[in-house]
Amino acid sequence: MMRMCLWGSRMEKELDQEVAAFSTSIQEDQYLYRYDIWGSIAHSTMLQKIGIVTSEEHQKMVTGLKQVGEEIETKQYDVSSFEDIHSAVEIRLKELIGESAGKLHTARSRNDQIVLDERLYLREQVVAIIRTVNALQESFLKKARRYRDVVMPGYTHLQPAQPVLFGHHCMAYFFMFQRDAERLQESLSRINVLPLGAGALAGTSLPIDCQLVADLLAFPNVQDNSMDTVADRDFLLEVLSDLAIASLHLCRMGEEIVLWSSPAFQFITIDDAFTTGSSIMPQKKNPDVAELIRGKTGEMVGSWISLAMTLKGLPLTYNRDLQQDKLPLLRAVEIGRLTFHIASRLVDHITPNIDKMEQALQVGFLTATDLCEYFVTLGIPFRKAHEMVGSLVRKLSSSGQTLHDLAWEDLQKEVEGVGPEVIEVLNEKKSIQRKKSAGSSSPGELEKQLQKGDLLLAKWNEQNTELEKTWASSFLALVDIPKE
Ligand code: ARG
Repeated sequence: MMRMCLWGSRMEKELDQEVAAFSTSIQEDQYLYRYDIWGSIAHSTMLQKIGIVTSEEHQKMVTGLKQVGEEIETKQYDVSSFEDIHSAVEIRLKELIGESAGKLHTARSRNDQIVLDERLYLREQVVAIIRTVNALQESFLKKARRYRDVVMPGYTHLQPAQPVLFGHHCMAYFFMFQRDAERLQESLSRINVLPLGAGALAGTSLPIDCQLVADLLAFPNVQDNSMDTVADRDFLLEVLSDLAIASLHLCRMGEEIVLWSSPAFQFITIDDAFTTGSSIMPQKKNPDVAELIRGKTGEMVGSWISLAMTLKGLPLTYNRDLQQDKLPLLRAVEIGRLTFHIASRLVDHITPNIDKMEQALQVGFLTATDLCEYFVTLGIPFRKAHEMVGSLVRKLSSSGQTLHDLAWEDLQKEVEGVGPEVIEVLNEKKSIQRKKSAGSSSPGELEKQLQKGDLLLAKWNEQNTELEKTWASSFLALVDIPKE
């Protein structure tokens, strides 16, 4: 049964009950009540300063709003039958403090209020997600450091290509996730804008002080255009897009963990606590966690598409379609945070099988490119060297041999100047030592990456803590109700 709404007097009839159920957003809005109360207290503070609300009325409103917050928190006040969280809060406030509650909505509309709630919610969530991304980065960094000497085959087209350091492969993920965190961080400058003052769409004739509200709520900026403010949700879409990209990275990581833990590769062992068995095949140990991480991508990319389609073609300004933004938002934020968290724990529960990786180095002529580059140092044009090594590999492989079956004298016959050091060139484990270019798979370059990784993680922690502190102190100063 839908209860009271904020606009009854215009209509001759009560809202049809099925329509009420169809149009409510209260289920999703329950994630927003803290922010609704926080924003309302800041708004009331401003209304008092400009003389619309007396200080006595303001005090009542603050006490009342806090009580509403506590009642929702402790489930004493059931909001489930309201149209939205704004109605639920305002109606309860009126029950608690009487008519003066009616002043709270001065110079404010639910159209700018919902955007405020979403912005307050999202900026906190973005930092919370960044923290889980950082945790996964740290898991990779630790793994890379611990197994920094391990050499394994690197692949292109899933065919053996060149030897690489296992740590280098781990750090590839570190930097992918670094960019995901950066994208999220950059979205904050567009989220962290105060929408109040926009009103329903055109602003207000009342002399409100938006800067004061912005200061109270720790927003560095105030919106520039009231119509844009209530009409757009690109600040949400951007985060969903960032999360969709991040989920594609997670998906590739999940896929490699599935592959590497399979009997065909056996490059890694996943701790039993992070695998599952089969109800029929007793021997099975399945990488379900990695598969689910891969599988979540559907919902993550789907959330982005869902909101993009909701926004497509909407005329300015507010349209009720916009209410549909919440499900994809809440879902993507929730899944994003959880998946990054679990992914980091999964990486912590993986052990590389060094022997298997080293065995795999023997297959696939992995040092063929090293041999080309060695020939280049002897003055042979690279294209010519490539041709020579290509036909060498063809001959060896047709007789079931490898590059190790070559004696340096054989190579000397082909190329003038070849010395015994060529045997070292063909050694897969030594191959990585010869790499010189920036960001290459050499121990020196890996060391640089590890050091940079440490610095980046320390910087993230500092930035995240700073933001969390700023917002927490605004919340504490205005609301100060216990966190759920
Ligand atoms: N529940 C609405 C939403 O999420 C709040 C804004 C309602 N505004 C309105 N005019 N009906 O978008």
